Amino acid sequence: MIRLKVAQLLVNRPVGSSVDVRGWVRTRRESKQGFAFVELNDGSSFANLQVVIDKSVPGYDQFLKLLTTGSSVRVVGELKASPAKGQVVEVHAAEVHVYGSADADKYPLQKKGHSFEFLRDIAHLRPRTNTFGAIARVRNAVCAAIHEFYQSRGFLYVHTPIITTSDCEGAGQMFQVTTLDLALLAQQKRSLDFTQDFFGKQASLTVSGQLEAETFACGLGDVYTFGPTFRAENSNTTRHLSEFWMVEPEMAFYDLEDNMRLAQEFIQFVLKRAIERCPDDMKFFVDRIDKQVLETVENIINHEFERVSYTEAIEILKNSGQTFEYPVEWGLDLQSEHERYLTEVKFGKPVILYNYPRSFKPFYMRCNDDGTTVRAMDVLVPRAGEIIGGSQREERLDVLLARMAECHLDPEQYWWYVDLRRYGTVPHAGFGLGLERVLLLLTGMTNIRDVIPFPRTPKHAEF
Ligand code: 4AD
Ligand code: MG
Repeated sequence: MIRLKVAQLLVNRPVGSSVDVRGWVRTRRESKQGFAFVELNDGSSFANLQVVIDKSVPGYDQFLKLLTTGSSVRVVGELKASPAKGQVVEVHAAEVHVYGSADADKYPLQKKGHSFEFLRDIAHLRPRTNTFGAIARVRNAVCAAIHEFYQSRGFLYVHTPIITTSDCEGAGQMFQVTTLDLALLAQQKRSLDFTQDFFGKQASLTVSGQLEAETFACGLGDVYTFGPTFRAENSNTTRHLSEFWMVEPEMAFYDLEDNMRLAQEFIQFVLKRAIERCPDDMKFFVDRIDKQVLETVENIINHEFERVSYTEAIEILKNSGQTFEYPVEWGLDLQSEHERYLTEVKFGKPVILYNYPRSFKPFYMRCNDDGTTVRAMDVLVPRAGEIIGGSQREERLDVLLARMAECHLDPEQYWWYVDLRRYGTVPHAGFGLGLERVLLLLTGMTNIRDVIPFPRTPKHAEF
């Protein structure tokens, strides 16, 4: 007999047919009339499958003891219309096989309603909960939608390296990659000599695939890279991870306007697909995590994003009558309290902030003629804050070299990046979208550690 997933079975509803289902027991209860009800989940859908086991099933007394919450089981039986409320169909077991029991006194998920903090410490078991199952399915739907969006527009998926020797953001937040024996060097009081290291120079984990993606865009047109990204920033916030996933499209012949338009279309497409593909999971988030979440997402899908220059944003914040913890002054970076005010209070929808002061933005952003701002753009959304950072890139060789000098960067170290401006340079632009930030938005979860399977944060990389 062919094994059926619960999701297939609930959609096709072949009432009367024989089925073989496998999964984990969520709950079990026994009726006085001499049969047991088991709620089975196999991860294929939010919904459980109800299994009815009559005591006449061979081995009933033996397997019933093993059929605890968390146990894994195979059931062969017949699919029937369910007389009770709560499900359309149920399986009447003819055969039950327990793969593995789970000791009721020890199984950490024996009881329901654990805090997310507690579940973070058992990240190996949390996929078995309603919440983390739903998050995993939505995350999967988002990733599929990301590829669908770019593939349908003729973008090439390129793989940029994880180990790199250039700091894209210039913010010095890189994790070093080395095979040098640091303990021995320290013991012998010897200084580090990177020429002796594995790559013959200092190497790190990438903070962004952008610079390498630009090399492909400046030869193949529209590309995107999508992969893990690493940042050693010591910020213990609910929106920062040390390892997160970023999607970075890079487009030849795009200017900042084109970039903003693509960013909006991209976000709207991905959100739309995710709620279409995961209606049960979204219903759960609305019922149990955040009542407003679907409304917020639909609002984003259906409205134009507000475009506000940095200079206008400073004026708005100054005239807001709000007291902020951090100062609002032209030339200072915006803090999340300012971003939240703009997107949640002032506009009540996503805001694209653009033309930031060059003083706190990276070297690669295209300089505006005013001499003070760059063609940067950040997309801010209610709840999750900044989900996209991007810009038009500086394609003029002389301006780029001047900016690198201003940022104390050695053009020799970025010689290949500079070369793109020497040979057939083109205007181009791109951005990076933080996958986990999108998931915060979609699920209503408030801590970014809960929307990635195995979170890495300062002092935390257990699993
Ligand atoms: O604004 P960022 O730093 O931009 C870049 O890295 C550019 N090189 C991207 C590009 O133009 N190709 O990061 C982009 C996005 C942020 O808007 C945010 O969504 C996410 O990446 N992000 C993080 N997500 C989780 N944890 C962190 N520590 C993050 N840092 C950035
Ligand atoms: Mg940013």
